[in-house]
Amino acid sequence: MKNQAVIIGIAGGSASGKTSIAKQLYDYFKGHHKVKILKQDDYYKDQSHLSFEERAKTNYDHPFAFDTDLLVEHLKKLKKKERIEKPTYDYTLHTRSSITEVIEKRDVIILEGIFVLAEPSIRELCDILVYVDTDSDIRFIRRLKRDIEERGRSLQSVCEQYLTTVRPMHEQFIEPSKKYAHIIIPEGGSNHVAVDLLTTKIKSIIDE
Ligand code: CTP
Repeated sequence: MKNQAVIIGIAGGSASGKTSIAKQLYDYFKGHHKVKILKQDDYYKDQSHLSFEERAKTNYDHPFAFDTDLLVEHLKKLKKKERIEKPTYDYTLHTRSSITEVIEKRDVIILEGIFVLAEPSIRELCDILVYVDTDSDIRFIRRLKRDIEERGRSLQSVCEQYLTTVRPMHEQFIEPSKKYAHIIIPEGGSNHVAVDLLTTKIKSIIDE
């Protein structure tokens, strides 16, 4: 095992299945290595100084919405196997929650988020870059269900947000970032062959 942690970056559109791929990798490696899933979403900027109505209007699919400097600082520390104190995010309140999570040194970091490939400073720190490529109709249906059930949203707000920001930003930033991927996984977490190939490659990097 190297002195440095291995960082796997998983990008893809909203509700493409990034979390599912990340969990399968986590389950595979956790028996032998210290693994942690890091969500880029936890690095959305703190917006507690704004009213709820103002926060709800923010474009959460633009790079400016994220505190990328903090994420890069944390990734550099995790790479050196140092400990960090990670923020956590509350989607129902549209801001950082008051809880922080201490992450001790890890061997493998699985970083998942919409801008992991689009942000040069983030992708440069990743050893393997993955893009989860799922059709937009499937992603929209998943997102609608998830945002209503888990993120306290209404049907109208999900549709409005999708049309005004999620879809155009996906086309402007996320979809073009696919070209930086080492591996493109069609249809997300149900693609077990792709997950098998990925685990083999990660294992070879860990064993180098
Ligand atoms: N988002 C939101 N409201 C906020 C903050 C973020 O609606 N206050 C949305 C953004 O619009 C962005 C999405 O959260 O599109 C990013 O999360 P997503 O990638 O959909 O979730 P994951 O669970 O990480 O992805 P996957 O379903 O691919 O596993």
